[in-house]
Amino acid sequence: MTNKGKFIVFEGIDASGKGTQSNLLCERFDELKINYIYTREPLMEISSISRLINGVADLTAKYNGLTPQNSKKFKLAPQTMSLLFAADRAEHVQKIIIPTLEKGINVVCDRYYASSLAYQGALDNVDEDWILQINRFCIQPDIVFLLDIDPNKSLNRIKGEKDRRHAEFEELSKQILVRDKYLKLSKQFKNWKIINADDNKESIFQKIIAELKPLINC
Ligand code: TYD
Repeated sequence: MTNKGKFIVFEGIDASGKGTQSNLLCERFDELKINYIYTREPLMEISSISRLINGVADLTAKYNGLTPQNSKKFKLAPQTMSLLFAADRAEHVQKIIIPTLEKGINVVCDRYYASSLAYQGALDNVDEDWILQINRFCIQPDIVFLLDIDPNKSLNRIKGEKDRRHAEFEELSKQILVRDKYLKLSKQFKNWKIINADDNKESIFQKIIAELKPLINC
């Protein structure tokens, strides 16, 4: 029997640097010939469940008298969003994450079920216990890196980016709520490491590697 791979998750508010850091980790694994896959939530194009999120939005918008062009502005009920994110995640866990770990391959994952607690829970007041219940199928990560940054600083990063898909998540007050929620979650769950993400990317990466070394020789 092969040893199981390690399940490594990155969490954080929008533009906290998860993408950059997970990318650096993948490059490190490449250099060291460590087996891994990189994946992310929501799965978007890959999973038909993710396509459903957009499909349901279009359909509901139609019944509310909105044109497809306007449907992007139409927001689904927070509970619907929570269920769709959970459905997307079920595909992810069952079809990608578990089979990969079983083969002894590490999984580097950008966002996981804590994102539902942080976003739908903190922003939309969706009941946290219910979110946990509908995500009960989730296996626990071996380590979760919370990239923690003051939203004032992360928002400056976003301002420099064009074509952001989720502008509604990006206002300062919302980011503050999400960050507070993440910090609470970090105390509630095992295996969370808070990484100060207001630093240069190399220093942040070194902190991540130091935390990872007991799990993976990297
Ligand atoms: P996206 O731009 O795709 O990725 P990221 O911000 O991680 O680089 O945005 C994904 C958005 O979806 C992000 O604002 C958080 C949100 N989200 C939820 O609200 N609930 C969830 O369960 C997940 C996985 C994501």
